Amino acid sequence: MSNLNDPVTLTPRTRATLAQDFVWGVATSAYQIEGGANVDGRGPSIWDTFSHAPGNTVRGETGDVACDHYHRWPEDVALMASLGVDAYRFSISWSRVQPLGHGTWNEAGLAFYDRLVDGLLQRGIRPSATLYHWDLPQGLQDRGGWAERETALRFADYAAHVGRRLGDRLASIATHNEPWCTATLGHAWGKFAPGLKDEALAADVSHHLLLSHGLALQAMRAVGVKAPLGIVLNQSSVTPATDSAADRTRAATEYASFVRWYMEPIFQGGYPQDAGIAHYPRNVRPGDFGIIGQPLDFLGINYYTRIWASATQPPLPAPCALGVTDMGWEIHPQGLTELLTGLAARYPGLPPIYLMENGMANADALVDGRVVDDRRIDYMRRHIEAIARAREAGVDIRGFYYWSLLDNYEWDSGYDKRFGLVHVDYATQQRTLKDSALWYREAIASMRGEAGRG
Ligand code: FCB
Repeated sequence: MSNLNDPVTLTPRTRATLAQDFVWGVATSAYQIEGGANVDGRGPSIWDTFSHAPGNTVRGETGDVACDHYHRWPEDVALMASLGVDAYRFSISWSRVQPLGHGTWNEAGLAFYDRLVDGLLQRGIRPSATLYHWDLPQGLQDRGGWAERETALRFADYAAHVGRRLGDRLASIATHNEPWCTATLGHAWGKFAPGLKDEALAADVSHHLLLSHGLALQAMRAVGVKAPLGIVLNQSSVTPATDSAADRTRAATEYASFVRWYMEPIFQGGYPQDAGIAHYPRNVRPGDFGIIGQPLDFLGINYYTRIWASATQPPLPAPCALGVTDMGWEIHPQGLTELLTGLAARYPGLPPIYLMENGMANADALVDGRVVDDRRIDYMRRHIEAIARAREAGVDIRGFYYWSLLDNYEWDSGYDKRFGLVHVDYATQQRTLKDSALWYREAIASMRGEAGRG
């Protein structure tokens, strides 16, 4: 009899809840896996510049080669097919298809994504593209990057071009991945490219990102793209450390800056005004919220951990009852249920939600051709259970994409953190299915059996 304490099996209740209208996928992003940084006319992105500058990444590692997916994509598509996934979420490298981010298009780059999309479709895997996973063409950063309104217009052109070229075959298109990271980690904390530390600027950037999202939706629809269109936001539940007024206020501010900051312009026509936010965009123009609030066909959410809000000094630590991942992130699946049910309550009428990323870094070791990663299996199982609980509570959630298909380039952490279902030996580019990949294959197959019974 399986139950939540069974380390391996999804409960019968969860299998029944997720049997219908549910997509099982895996996710990656361009800079983290493609490599091929200087081939076939690709231009540099801000991540090439940032990772090559001393001191920005662990051991100075870059995405120059990464998983060499640019050359090895047929093998990677075959791996996905062997797992039986329904869908693959990948991102398009803007500077591969338009080297400067303005002006000339690069046919060789577009042809790469053509081949990838066709290869996926031949295997019966739905291609879900993200247009921007943090890798702005350096040619646009040289003109001011996301601080400039012009960049939002260039993004809309890029979206229309990709839409014309691939829109007939893509299963979905997301504009941005995690704009919070681009704005805050990239422009306020200096942790990600372009490495700036200016909080007021980060607020302006968040507005241009949202504006670019709305303009891109308009542009893609104007050229007749029929694929469902959306955006992918990173979100967390937020827990006040205690019931004190100070902790509850801190929690409300965290939730407002992390979740509401992106949800409310898109779904309610403005930024949250009531939660102690320090910086508001200085670049809002009349009509912007009308553009940002284009109807969405889906909402993508990425969830890894919760935010623990403690206002005392020193802050109270999170309990971490289920431990932490190799990133040091608390494992808290219940937060996913809380997040999703909270969104549904706060924002009635949301489009269908897909969990577009969820996964864990683990200190995996390849021993005698095998990776025993039971902790990852446990993480996945608990988060899938958490999704089912949200669905039972009425949340319209329709998919789960594990982050990531492959071990890959984890930004400032370099190759140090392994998130993959598939182990990558970076010296040989050898791929090995981890135990978690085999578990996911079984889980998906058992869900198909369930669907057949339904
Ligand atoms: C998310 C990113 C993804 C990966 C995971 C671990 O924030 O979208 O690229 O780095 O975290």
